Amino acid sequence: MTDDTDADGDAHSDETPGTALTASDASATATPRIGVCYFPEHWPRERWETDVEQMAAAGIDVVRMGEFSWGRIEPERGAFDFEWLDTAVSLLGDAGIDVVLCTPTATPPKWLIDEYPEILQEEPDGTTREFGSRRHYCFNSAVYREESARIARRMAERYADADPVVGWQTDNEYGCHHTVRCYCDDCAAAFREWCRDRYDDVDALNETWGTTFWSQQYGSFDELQPPRHTAAEHHPSRLLDYARFANESVVDYNELQAAIVREANDEWFVTHNFMGNFDTLDAFSVSESLDFATWDSYPTGFAQDRNTAELTDDRLRAGDPDQVSLNHDLYRGPAGFWVMEQQPGDVNWPPRCPQPGEGAMRLWAHQAVAHGANVVSYFRWRRCRQGQEQYHAGLRKHDGSPDRGYEDAARAAAEFESLGDLDGVDAPVALCFSYDDLWALSGQPHAPEFDYWGLVGAFYRALRARGVQVDVVEPEADLDGYAAVVAPTLHLASESLASALEDYVVDGGHVLLGPRSGYKLPGNRLQPDLAPGPFASLVGGHVDQHESLPDSIETTLTYRETTYDYRTWAEWLVPDEASVAGEYISGTAAGRPAVLDHDVGDGSVTYCGVWPEADLADALVTDLLDRGGVAYSGRFPETVRVAERDGLTWVLNFGGDPIEVDAPDGVEWRVGDASISGYGVGVVDAAVTELSVQ
Ligand code: GAL
Ligand code: ZN
Repeated sequence: MTDDTDADGDAHSDETPGTALTASDASATATPRIGVCYFPEHWPRERWETDVEQMAAAGIDVVRMGEFSWGRIEPERGAFDFEWLDTAVSLLGDAGIDVVLCTPTATPPKWLIDEYPEILQEEPDGTTREFGSRRHYCFNSAVYREESARIARRMAERYADADPVVGWQTDNEYGCHHTVRCYCDDCAAAFREWCRDRYDDVDALNETWGTTFWSQQYGSFDELQPPRHTAAEHHPSRLLDYARFANESVVDYNELQAAIVREANDEWFVTHNFMGNFDTLDAFSVSESLDFATWDSYPTGFAQDRNTAELTDDRLRAGDPDQVSLNHDLYRGPAGFWVMEQQPGDVNWPPRCPQPGEGAMRLWAHQAVAHGANVVSYFRWRRCRQGQEQYHAGLRKHDGSPDRGYEDAARAAAEFESLGDLDGVDAPVALCFSYDDLWALSGQPHAPEFDYWGLVGAFYRALRARGVQVDVVEPEADLDGYAAVVAPTLHLASESLASALEDYVVDGGHVLLGPRSGYKLPGNRLQPDLAPGPFASLVGGHVDQHESLPDSIETTLTYRETTYDYRTWAEWLVPDEASVAGEYISGTAAGRPAVLDHDVGDGSVTYCGVWPEADLADALVTDLLDRGGVAYSGRFPETVRVAERDGLTWVLNFGGDPIEVDAPDGVEWRVGDASISGYGVGVVDAAVTELSVQ
């Protein structure tokens, strides 16, 4: 073991042919690259050169390391061993590969936990989340913040002058395994402070939450506790504020790490790897202290464990394309995004894991790039022979031989190289996504199927089936410049949000607003007025009744004279200024308005009081696109998706059967051609609207 000192801090010789940070690392324009997540600490030193050679041979340009390495870097307090990581960084640099290092804070080592057991998280019932897995630390532990700062600083300073290191990932997947929300005493104290800051006066909290209900008044902030185990459900306003508080604890913790990394070298980028369809962390707020976001994409896993859509054979083999793209579009920012972990083959954590379809690992890389990714980095290099993830593939098998993903990755790398520099995605439509709404609705879904991601997905899928590029934005985002806006719901509504939306419409914007909008105040109690509360004048009508409905009840309506199905949620609408565009034809609602149209200023609003099934979503969305003057394609089958970036269109086949693409004469296929195999892809220099599939 070497005890490093500042004197030996330079990990690399001057000759190291490392790649310094280029604009493409934090800009929307880049030649897309392939990367991999590597754990040299799991393998004998003698193997590393071979690994690096095989990476280079596949065209891998970026390697991420170190996210769980604290125990290896600092086996005992103050006794550091960086030599192994220095060597790995050097070997990669010598091969011209960029390195992304991670702060190793997702796995505090045993000695640290024994020294300060209060670092551990607690469940709502007081059970400790013990050592022996990962993510066992509390974001509000003062001692853990100090320890995190200490290890992050030590690592960042160690590699401050190491040329191959181009940037950092903070920690790893904040909140994975339900760990955003902790219920320990440190969190209780921090929650009291958070409420004090937010409300100043406890009576303001009582009023905002509405604590007269069930005698829940608080006499002082000192009486507040985290929402621990109770007999019946918690007060929804308290739950929502706890969700906000827990999220902000992560935001603060990330800011701390990001600042330390930048202090060591301000040319590095700082990112974090978020998760797919993830509920408890507001990626917009965490991203404020990042240069760009990255996320971890496991399509066949997500299709099973966080998707309410039907699990078809194709989705088991290649994932649900719209579910994956929604996350791409959510994490894409002005500087693009990366997929930091891309599924490499079969994985260990979904209920079952059929082998992905032939070529699916290449298909996913292309899909990500089509949606604006600049790097797609597979997780992991090699199947690991120890620990919790032995049933998780890598690009190489555990004996070191190539696995299915290796050839796919190599092929994608060569294809991206041939495409050269690409600009970012230019989306004409914004889709509003609000974590506050997600948290409020998941506290009171009012139907087991009422899932925020599912509702958002219903509208998003309709846009993507028509080949429309979409930016996923916060409702408070600047909407100027978007030809049309889809807000699947704006559940919690302030006057300022309503007036911003109204300004957008008056100035010529077109909006499709979904159900449960304007029901609640930002504190999660009902608005004083009937829904849609502050949106009522914009919508030109209001909600008389709502009902949540099981599958067994018939749910049909007519919209512009055609009959459609809806599901799960229905509002009986009353037009004030608006005209009726849709009407229920089944159930107790029959004859009542379901969809309202309202022209306002130079723009228009359609309010839809139901959760639409696919055909209705398509009709609503295409009407909106027509009003906004946004061109769209014919409706593609569920397993075929097209996406446009920088004048090129990717045709992505998520089905096992081959497809033929109809394209205008004279187009150039930059990858593949018009005959696309099952789970294959083609890239053509045509617009999405010029293409169709037989
Ligand atoms: C991710 C995580 C990785 C690994 C992977 C397995 O959620 O960041 O460390 O566990 O899943 O699929
Ligand atoms: Zn805690």
